[in-house]
Formats: sequence, structure tokens, C-alpha cells
Amino acid sequence: MFFDSNLNSNPNSGSDNKKKPALFLAPMADVTNPAFRFVAHECGADFTYTEMIHSDGFNHGDPYAENRGFSINQIPYGIQIVGSDSESIAKAAAGVEEMFSPSVRVIDINMGCPSPPITKTGCGAALMAQDFGSDSHPATIIRRVCDNVRLPVTAKIRIYKDDEKTIRLAKSIEDAGAAAITVHGRTKDQFYSGKADWNVIAKIKKELSIPVILNGDIVDEKSLQTAMDLTNCDGYMIGRAAIGNPNIFRKLNFYLKNGEPEIISQPDEFAGRCADLSQYFFYLQKYNLLPHVNIRAHAQWFTKGLPYSREMRLKINDLHKDVKIRHFSDVELAEERSALAVEIASIFDEYSEKCRRDFPE
Ligand SMILES: Cc1cc2nc3c(=O)[nH]c(=O)nc-3n(C[C@H](O)[C@H](O)[C@H](O)COP(=O)(O)O)c2cc1C
Repeated sequence: MFFDSNLNSNPNSGSDNKKKPALFLAPMADVTNPAFRFVAHECGADFTYTEMIHSDGFNHGDPYAENRGFSINQIPYGIQIVGSDSESIAKAAAGVEEMFSPSVRVIDINMGCPSPPITKTGCGAALMAQDFGSDSHPATIIRRVCDNVRLPVTAKIRIYKDDEKTIRLAKSIEDAGAAAITVHGRTKDQFYSGKADWNVIAKIKKELSIPVILNGDIVDEKSLQTAMDLTNCDGYMIGRAAIGNPNIFRKLNFYLKNGEPEIISQPDEFAGRCADLSQYFFYLQKYNLLPHVNIRAHAQWFTKGLPYSREMRLKINDLHKDVKIRHFSDVELAEERSALAVEIASIFDEYSEKCRRDFPE
């Protein structure tokens, strides 16, 4: 199995609990680049996924695929492919397997992205509208990808309004050879609104023999525990709550190990966030990812939930405001962003010290 929910695949999880479910970092475009995935791994994520890589783009030599697909230090990770038909997806799957072996462990197929630019071209959640047996039905795609690669293949789906229909889809994906399935408990039309429906995921878990990974609205210890009690899933995937906050994996692992949330002072929480941000910048720089990342936006995500976050965001916004980067080469962009990173880190440090003064323990 590409992840092992009984024996922690990640020593950073700090848990010796043999029954700990696996914690996954969700694939997120413009977020889960190799540097962020590595920091999430260091914080205790058992498994991480790349941003989606478009099959047609990859098959035509998209140079960005390489930036999205590699992994730092062989951490356990999967590559996600998005596409509209089984032939293109299967070809790209074989290509990424060859390009990123032996570090990549799994090929995941995106069957849930609801964003119109994606669905309009028949990709993502549009696949779930295809007739069973057609070339672009999720089961056809999984079978074809399984035939084309040696790695395990997984699917990430959303739900339909009709539970039975969702269960039939999940079953067809299992029968087609998927090694696991991730279910985001929202319909395509819900996008990210409303509450994720974990009841239907519980039903899918009962019907399927392959591991089921729950996704949608895991934000803290309480939501994780509720989802675990209700569904007994093999893994829990965290998306938005991990953006700018990879430390969520440390907190959830602490909870899984000790049965209660970790009590941490505000200044320590702040200092931890600064440390995670520095690590993130360090890996962005080390692996030449700075030209591909809007670090101003990413740094602002790291202010989420911290005291003085608004002030910090305004200060970060003001940095290098007048620099026109439109005609920069990659080298110039990297230099500019590297200088920006140093200034952003010092803003975080300044406010971290202020937090220690204002909130004495
Ligand atoms: C910024 C952003 C980018 C995303 N990109 C992808 C993607 O590339 N592939 C994918 O399958 N899902 C993508 N998603 C959906 C997430 O993987 C996840 O299914 C969703 O956010 C629900 O989980 P959550 O409630 O924990 O956030 C994205 C979500 C966000 C917020």
C-alpha cells in the first residue's frame, strides 16, 4: 500500500499509535508546490499530493510540470493528473511515472475540480457527468491508467446529490483497479460552500474494500474526531486549513497520540508559524521555486489566525510595491523574491517578538 495507516509512514508525526489514521495534505493548485509539501511532511503529514498537472500540457512538454512534480528528499507523495480523456491521462500517467520514479508513490486522477476553466474542457468534475462505459467515465480512466503504469492509481472525486449514485461511482472506480479513493463530500455545484457531507462517505467506506480517504472540512481536532467517529475512514485529507498553516499536521498528530489538543501559548504558536515560514522560504529558494510562486500571497496566508495579522498583511503588501516584475527573467525574479522573502521574514519576527511582549505567559 502506498500509505500505511497502521504503521505511520512519517516519523515526524511523533506518534507511536499503531491505529493512527493517515493524514493527507490535499492537492491544491498554487499551494502544494514541492517546498510546501516538504514543510507539511516535516510537520507530520503522512502523505502529500502535487498540484494538478494537466495531461495535455504534460504530453506536449509543459516545462512547469517538472517544477510541480518533483519531491524533496524522497518524501512519500503522489502526483495528481487532470485531463479529459482516458488516452491523454494514461499517456501522461506513464510519462510522470517515468520522469519522477522512484520517488513518486502514486498517480492520482482529479475527478472533482469544479472550476469552470477546468470543467468546460471536460476535465475534473466534468468526468463525473460521463456515462458509464464511455471513454471519459472515471472507471474507464482508472482502468486505462492502471494498465499503463506500475504505480498504484487513486481517484479523487466529489459526491452527487444522490447517495446511491455516488456509491455506485465509487464502487466502479474500485472495480476498475483503484488502490484507494478520496471523496470530497461536496457536489460539483457546491464548489466550496455549504458543509461537506460525511454521511455519504461513511456509506462508501462500508461498501468498499480499498482504503477510503475523507476530504472536506477537517479544520481542527474536533472535526477530525467527529469525522473519524462517523466514518472510520483510512485517511483524512486536509486542504484549506493547511494553507499557510502546515502546523495543523503537528497539532492533529499530537491529538491522535494523546487524545487531547495540545495547549500552546500564543507567543509559542506565533514563533512556530515564523519557523514554518522560514523553512518554506528556505526550500523555495534552495530548489529554485521562487520564480513560480507569488511569495507575497503565500506569506499572507501564514498570517491567518495570528494576532496583528491585518497589520502584517498591510506591511507585506507595501514591500517592493513599485517594482515592476513583468519583464523580469527567471533569474531576476528569483533575486527579487529572495530579497522580498528576507523582508517578509523580518516582519514575522518583529511581530512574533511583539506578541511575546504583549501576551506574557
Ligand atoms: C486553492 C485551492 C486549490 C485546489 N486545487 C486542487 C487541485 O489541484 N486538485 C484537487 O483535486 N483539488 C484541489 N482543490 C480542492 C482540495 O483538494 C480539497 O478537495 C478541498 O479544498 C476540500 O477540502 P478542505 O475542506 O479541507 O479544504 C483545491 C482547493 C483549493 C482551496
